[in-house]
Amino acid sequence: MDSSEFQGFLRTRSSVREYTAEDLTSEEIAAVVRAAERAPSAGNRESWDVVIVTDEGIREDLSDAAFQQQHLMQAPCIFVVCANYVRSMSQYGERGILYAVQDATIAATYMMLGAHAGGLQTCWTGAFDEEAVSEVLGLPEHIRPLVLLAAGKGHLPPSHAGRMPIGEHVHENIW
Ligand SMILES: Cc1cc2nc3c(=O)[nH]c(=O)nc-3n(C[C@H](O)[C@H](O)[C@H](O)COP(=O)(O)O)c2cc1C
Repeated sequence: MDSSEFQGFLRTRSSVREYTAEDLTSEEIAAVVRAAERAPSAGNRESWDVVIVTDEGIREDLSDAAFQQQHLMQAPCIFVVCANYVRSMSQYGERGILYAVQDATIAATYMMLGAHAGGLQTCWTGAFDEEAVSEVLGLPEHIRPLVLLAAGKGHLPPSHAGRMPIGEHVHENIW
């Protein structure tokens, strides 16, 4: 894939909030997770974990924990990507909190793009009650849920969300 193909790949992804009822195959789910395998991580400690939720009742509970966001009930699969603080803090102490958040965010991004490459749609979902999600999934204390990545076969919105001009993000040499 050359650079312009890569740009095209990125430009055709959009967050999708309407899904068909079609389940994902185990191969499709595995391909999404496998995309995170090569994600970089602090000290290569891979301080992230994922809970793959396909159970309808648990998806409903996750939707409730995320302020009833409907796409979480509709999407047949939710990848709950978590920071693993113990894996990272055992090496890096307090700094490990930040590294685990970064590791898990990168892993979730790779999964999102892996899903896109596999013809699936996703919606990165960050608005949720962390305690409620932890309770629904029985997460241990040191595991912090960061992203509910809804995935499935969905209906793309009619247009892609706009962006501010890239130059507004960019500072050269100094701020
Ligand atoms: C940190 C983060 C949190 C987000 N939380 C939500 C959310 O709770 N619900 C939702 O529908 N979309 C959520 N989104 C998706 C954004 O709304 C979406 O990425 C943004 O509007 C740009 O649209 P696009 O992804 O289609 O390009 C979130 C995205 C990020 C990166």
